[in-house]
Amino acid sequence: MSGSHEFVVVANRLPVDVQVSSKGKVSWDRSPGGLVTALHPVMQSQDGAWVGWSGRADTELDAFEADGMHLVPVPLSKAEVANYYEGFSNATLWPLYHDVIVNPVYHRTWWNSYLEVNRRFSEAAAGAAAQGATVWVHDYQLQLVPQMLRRLRPDVRIGFFNHIPFPPVELFGQLTWRKQVVEGLLGADLIGFQRTGDAANFLRAVRRFTDFTPRGQSVTIGQHWTRPERHVRVGTFPISIDSTQVDELARSEKTAQRAAELRRELGEPDVLLLGVDRLDYTKGIRHRIKAFGELLAEKKVTVPTTALVQVASPSREQVEQYRNLRQEVEVMVGNINGDYSSWGRSAIYYMHHSYPQEEMVALYRAADVMLVTALRDGMNLVAKEYVAARHDLGGVLVLSEFAGAADELGQALLVNPHDIEGLKSAMMRAATMEPPERRRRMRALRKRVLSGDVQSWARKFLTALAADRNPHE
Ligand code: G6P
Repeated sequence: MSGSHEFVVVANRLPVDVQVSSKGKVSWDRSPGGLVTALHPVMQSQDGAWVGWSGRADTELDAFEADGMHLVPVPLSKAEVANYYEGFSNATLWPLYHDVIVNPVYHRTWWNSYLEVNRRFSEAAAGAAAQGATVWVHDYQLQLVPQMLRRLRPDVRIGFFNHIPFPPVELFGQLTWRKQVVEGLLGADLIGFQRTGDAANFLRAVRRFTDFTPRGQSVTIGQHWTRPERHVRVGTFPISIDSTQVDELARSEKTAQRAAELRRELGEPDVLLLGVDRLDYTKGIRHRIKAFGELLAEKKVTVPTTALVQVASPSREQVEQYRNLRQEVEVMVGNINGDYSSWGRSAIYYMHHSYPQEEMVALYRAADVMLVTALRDGMNLVAKEYVAARHDLGGVLVLSEFAGAADELGQALLVNPHDIEGLKSAMMRAATMEPPERRRRMRALRKRVLSGDVQSWARKFLTALAADRNPHE
């Protein structure tokens, strides 16, 4: 089983939104996202294929070309969407890997579906990859693919990157299938994480739950699976954004005009606070709204001189914990607006939508304070986008120390979002920060964000993967 592609990306989702007409005609739009931006050049230069799910249940699609990429759809049935995607990926692993902010749910049927779907992705990848190709597997939905693929295709180079945190062993140990998951990942030649802490947690999990003993940043796999022995390297590769593109977009006249227009539409507040997140319990949206509500109650801020815009894009709406969160957030917003809004002027402008990138960048430019208060986050690209959009050196970033971005963005106002008083102080400090301090901090943040983009992140990972040849070969 082999194909013709020298480079294969395997991710849960294809990088396009697929539409199928009633006559079965397939059309697609490129879906925005850092990963596709990063990999598009590599895909084009190396005749790459992308293996992923179209996002539609019970839809069988042939492979197709889109935007110069060869796309290989992996079908999921309705039951698999419920068990593999909403269940094991997003109601078991997602909360477990994010510090059990909500309780992970464990079901053997979900695990069986995860096994089955990971097998299907492995087979699709094996069918697409040429002899000796490089295969790059992404994220927590597909942790068994490296080992399964290696069994099918021992000739290919396999990289794995985990976009979300890897939990400490004390939490990871809850997972009945912890050994299988770690061994699944060890099928790769190189396993990448966002933070050094994630890599350390993974290496501890290897030591605790498998028969292998890591040495430094590497794990030697003996004759249990393959001969001769193999070295799996573990590294840290903090992901970034297409910073040049965001910077250029932010500098455009159109964006400046739209930013000014947004401020006018919001009643020209003195201070505009902004939150932008997928509606996910890991993002600390409730904590941020609670802090804002208390500041209003204490009259530290007032309407309409201060406003909070919260963009919460719809996400995983069939999963119970996400539905509960939406309820909670909307009740909080409703209460605060009921108490503090005036005719035509709201305390909180809450948008349960997604917006095109142009509009988001205009919002970043319009906002005086960006609130990133995640309770746990692999990286948080919104924080980096805000910084890239502020060439004017205006704006203050309030950033949770529990977001991966905090490792790099130390010049933000770092907060513990669980500490509501601390969060309130940071919000006030950000809202009243003197321009020289604001400029100094933003300049330092920009230096960091603009010095590395998502393309260089992909290059670094792929270079390490290529260099990481088995010394016995
Ligand atoms: C996070 C995950 C991605 C995922 C994205 C959107 O960023 O790391 O793997 O694709 O959320 O979630 P969804 O469930 O809609 O794919």
